[in-house]
Amino acid sequence: MQSKRLINTGSIRFRFFAFIGMLLAVLLLLLNIYPYVTTKEAVYQEKEKSMETQAATLSSALSGLDRPDQESVAEVLRLLDVRDYDRILIADSEGRVIYNSGSGEGLMADLQTALAGKTVFRSVLKGESFNSSYSIPLSSQGTITGAVYISETDAERGQILHDLQFQIRTVSLIIALAALAMAVVYSSLVLRKLRQLSASMRIVAGGDYSHRMATAGTDELAELGNEFNTLTARLADTERQRRRFVSDASHELKTPLASIRLLSDSIVQNENMDTDTIREFVTDIGNEAERLQRTTEKLLDLSRLDDDIHIVPEPVDVKQSALDALVFLRPLAQERNVHLRAALDDGCVVLATADDMFHIIFNLMENAIKYNVPDGSVNISLHAADETVEFAVEDTGIGIPEEERYNIFSRFYRVDKARSREHGGSGLGLSIVHDAVKAHGGTIAVGPNKPQGSRFIVTFPRYSME
Ligand SMILES: Nc1ncnc2c1ncn2[C@@H]1O[C@H](COP(=O)(O)OP(=O)(O)OP(=O)(O)O)[C@@H](O)[C@H]1O
Ligand SMILES: [Mg+2]
Repeated sequence: MQSKRLINTGSIRFRFFAFIGMLLAVLLLLLNIYPYVTTKEAVYQEKEKSMETQAATLSSALSGLDRPDQESVAEVLRLLDVRDYDRILIADSEGRVIYNSGSGEGLMADLQTALAGKTVFRSVLKGESFNSSYSIPLSSQGTITGAVYISETDAERGQILHDLQFQIRTVSLIIALAALAMAVVYSSLVLRKLRQLSASMRIVAGGDYSHRMATAGTDELAELGNEFNTLTARLADTERQRRRFVSDASHELKTPLASIRLLSDSIVQNENMDTDTIREFVTDIGNEAERLQRTTEKLLDLSRLDDDIHIVPEPVDVKQSALDALVFLRPLAQERNVHLRAALDDGCVVLATADDMFHIIFNLMENAIKYNVPDGSVNISLHAADETVEFAVEDTGIGIPEEERYNIFSRFYRVDKARSREHGGSGLGLSIVHDAVKAHGGTIAVGPNKPQGSRFIVTFPRYSME
């Protein structure tokens, strides 16, 4: 067995924390470096300015001396009151030190540079204090007569800088801790909802379509939960429909099969049955078999319509489909003594399949003839408008009660069961019409015809070459 990894680097939580961590690191690094560096730079600049002024003052005071020596320089320095310096070095034009406030040699290199006519400034932060020095030439009437070197230690500013750094570090630590705490709380909230969602999905996948996820709020996760619930409700609906369809279909097939068995049993068991009765029974068996055949054919049509979503539609001339259906249905109309009339416009082209279009027209017309009265009539019409094509079937038959109109497109639904069955109807014709019309972007409406009968109107988007 593989042991469970302690940290799942592919998890959302890990990625979230890695992102937050990186962001924090960059931000805090900038926060720690930038103010410190700029403040230090500002101190250096200020130091340079102040030391430059002081060195210049010193230099101009000393330039007044004809021959600077230890005594005269000490006198000038005493008058200037320059006690803040750690060290003051003064050299004559040959580089000999003529005044040294401390012991040791001091920075002779800087003094040499100053004797060459250039000023030198140095400042370094050592521990908690700034060590700075400044060297400047002494000149009298355009010639360099010597050089001055001064140095000082500034512990005060060093301390300020040190405190600043410490404060920034403390603030950074607080920010980091607060951000991490917030990230933990937030990610736990989000992840809890995601876990709830996946738990719900597992329940539904296990077959419990009645399960609904509890959602609260209006955020994206609540939206996701609502979408999931809608999806589950649709699944439940589809499943219910499927079960009902299977049970209806088996029932529809069971009834004619039972009749066939009953009739054939009677023939077999009854030895003295006369030929006329046998003929009658066998005819009945034939009728039942025909009904079975019609039902199974329609079931196949329906399942084909379910599968045909990916079929590429082609331009179909509706008039041609109507003429084809008329050829098939004329004998039935004659047999029922029903008059057929047709007014069909040219140029009614829609995007569909010829097969589906034929089924739509055939089923509507077949119903109009079957549920008609002797000497009744059926009118079909086909018109093209700018954007639509409208096909209508009107009959003068028995009509459909208003409260039934909504149901007639359901599978196996018949208004008058006995009457429909007598015509060999399976209650699937209008379902096929409905599904086929919908599959090609059309709509179907049903209403009463005047003075009696029904009127079905099918509308499709019109197809034009452009
Ligand atoms: N033009 C009509 N006039 C009166 N009733 C109708 C008409 N068309 C349909 N009906 C009613 O609607 C029911 C459903 O029609 P549908 O075409 O789906 O089934 P069917 O005609 O009974 O069987 P099938 O068409 O499968 O052979 C019919 O049983 C009938 O009661
Ligand atoms: Mg029918």
